[in-house]
Amino acid sequence: MSYKVALKPSEKTFDVDEAESIVDAAHRQGIHLPYSCRDGTCGTCKGRVVSGEIKHDHYSPQALSDKERAAGMALFCQARACSDLVLEIDLNNPDIQRLPSRVDQIDHLGHDVMRLFLKLPAGKQLNYIAGQYIDIILSDGRHRTYSIAGAPRDDGMIELHIRNVEGGRFSDFVFHHLEQKTILRIEGPMGAFYLRQDSTRPMLLVAGGTGLAPIKAIIEAAQQAGDRREIILYWGVRSQRDLYFQKTVEQWAEQEHLRYIPVLSEPDDDWQGRSGYVHEAVLQDITDIAQYDVYAAGPPIMVSSARSSFLAAGLPEKQIFHDAFEWALDTQEAIKKN
Ligand code: FES
Repeated sequence: MSYKVALKPSEKTFDVDEAESIVDAAHRQGIHLPYSCRDGTCGTCKGRVVSGEIKHDHYSPQALSDKERAAGMALFCQARACSDLVLEIDLNNPDIQRLPSRVDQIDHLGHDVMRLFLKLPAGKQLNYIAGQYIDIILSDGRHRTYSIAGAPRDDGMIELHIRNVEGGRFSDFVFHHLEQKTILRIEGPMGAFYLRQDSTRPMLLVAGGTGLAPIKAIIEAAQQAGDRREIILYWGVRSQRDLYFQKTVEQWAEQEHLRYIPVLSEPDDDWQGRSGYVHEAVLQDITDIAQYDVYAAGPPIMVSSARSSFLAAGLPEKQIFHDAFEWALDTQEAIKKN
């Protein structure tokens, strides 16, 4: 059975089959609805059901509270249509594009992180907002999602930080076979994780691992906009060797308005800095979290722990923006088997 979906305020329409999620149906028809985890854990795909009936698959109560659900909010990555629908959702980004890109540069940034610079064909541009992400489309049609690790550049180059994941098909390819000039098909931009420039509140940036990539984009966007608000950056990783971008981050911290605190969850013997979970370090230091806009990016467990503990400490919900990355399903399965 298939239903009609109308989006407000954009007036876009598309069809949805009862067996597919609303995000998947829109995506299939070239309409980008914001999403990040596609697993009901991050809340990026949240919007309001103006009319019609939906049913949800599983989701985390941290992504959609009972109160929000009672008020008509829904997670469109987990929602399936039971009737024609009118939905209200912020499509604050340009339409999705599919483009070929050429691998221009490959750098080892650390023991398990590779940086790629992708170049688009002459005359083509990806109109993204700093903090958003793209999908790389593999030869079998599967997608791999990566945040763009920088604000838009004049030369149109796209920077990605790829972590080597055991059992990860694409990351294995990147680490062992990828060569310069390889053509990668990309799709994007996507995501609702971006700098809110209409705010004057100081910013608390919390990154876990390669969650630093979209945080880097947000820092660069603030710099480009001449935004000199106070920034406190916490970067949580396991051990010192995981601080793959340490020199650059330390250079950022030479600016008067930016402070940087690395936090190790499995500290090396010679580590003299902070240790523990990154969100706990934030709460040990920041007693007035309600004064900040918080941007958190990293693994879902880090982002959801940060979100729930910051809200419990008094941070208003409208002041936290987050981007949780989830391994693709086939990668999760491969990890489980290993
Ligand atoms: Fe839907 Fe994360 S909760 S994309």
